[in-house]
Amino acid sequence: MNYTGKYPSSRPRRLRQSDWVRRLTREHRLSVDDLIWALVVHDGAEDEITVSAMPGTARLSVRAAANAAKRAQKLGIPAIAVFPHVNSAKKDASGREALNDKGLVCEAVRAMKDSAPDVGIMVDVALDPFTDHGHDGLLKDDRIANDDTVKVLVEQAIIQTRAGADIVAPSDMMDGRVGAIRAGLDGSGFQDTLIMSYAAKYASAFYGPYREAIGSGKLGSGAVANPGDKRTYQMDFANTDEALREVAMDVAEGADMLLVKPGLPYLDIVARVKQSFGLPTYAFQVSGEYAMIKAASGNGWIDEDRAVIESLTAFKRAGADGIVTYFAPKAAELLGV
Ligand code: PBG
Repeated sequence: MNYTGKYPSSRPRRLRQSDWVRRLTREHRLSVDDLIWALVVHDGAEDEITVSAMPGTARLSVRAAANAAKRAQKLGIPAIAVFPHVNSAKKDASGREALNDKGLVCEAVRAMKDSAPDVGIMVDVALDPFTDHGHDGLLKDDRIANDDTVKVLVEQAIIQTRAGADIVAPSDMMDGRVGAIRAGLDGSGFQDTLIMSYAAKYASAFYGPYREAIGSGKLGSGAVANPGDKRTYQMDFANTDEALREVAMDVAEGADMLLVKPGLPYLDIVARVKQSFGLPTYAFQVSGEYAMIKAASGNGWIDEDRAVIESLTAFKRAGADGIVTYFAPKAAELLGV
């Protein structure tokens, strides 16, 4: 129970009257140690290709990604999460390119590890950057084939780990994939590779700009049973208990770290997951959240720097141990001042 006094002997404003006492009584603190930098790479030669829906970010060439990793190391950012924009000529229905050990993700991981060995590299385990239909799984008779997809995800995770990835992060929401990936990694001698499970991932409108960033806009074209959306595998945004069941299964299957996604509209989920399981728990401030802050600040409607720090601190308040965010380098710079 919180102590509450009575006015006028108690005056809560006393604790807010100046910066020193506000600092002294602050409950939650954002630090550079909380940041995972979400970064998109592409397989072309151009160092930076702007993403119109995400001003201030760019798709980076492998070389530019290596430099970004160096920058992360200098800024003290602990880890980078890499997402690939694959040339559409390499995409097909089976997402075969996901298993290319000389493909974009593996090349980027190798280059980043070479240039900044002290920065943790996290990779997405999912097929959507590689499938021409844009779904995270394989389609069979116009349905997402769960168990066939899991087999491919295991291979993908092993290949990415062999390239040097430190954390594999399945974002596909297939059932049973965490356990299968854990067994696959262990069987290949990768007992120390971490799994950050996108344990509670919702079917969300806030992923919109990401589709432009990785060029997977074709979702739902063709004869897909659930055109235009991922609601047969990502969760219904009206649900909370379901998130806890998803997390419980992933924990039982061997997840080391948990991720809730999207971020700010789902702080209640972050809080419940952290309270219920006590595992290292992260939130993903997704592309749409980034775009909203950039759009409003670009119009002069909100102060960007303050909105970035406030929104990231909100995740800490909810119980998150860290945040995956496109704002990581900016936040690190702001925190360093
Ligand atoms: C898909 C994936 C998505 C994101 C990360 N991995 C999009 C989706 O599920 O449709 C979204 C990231 C963002 O919006 O910033 N495997």
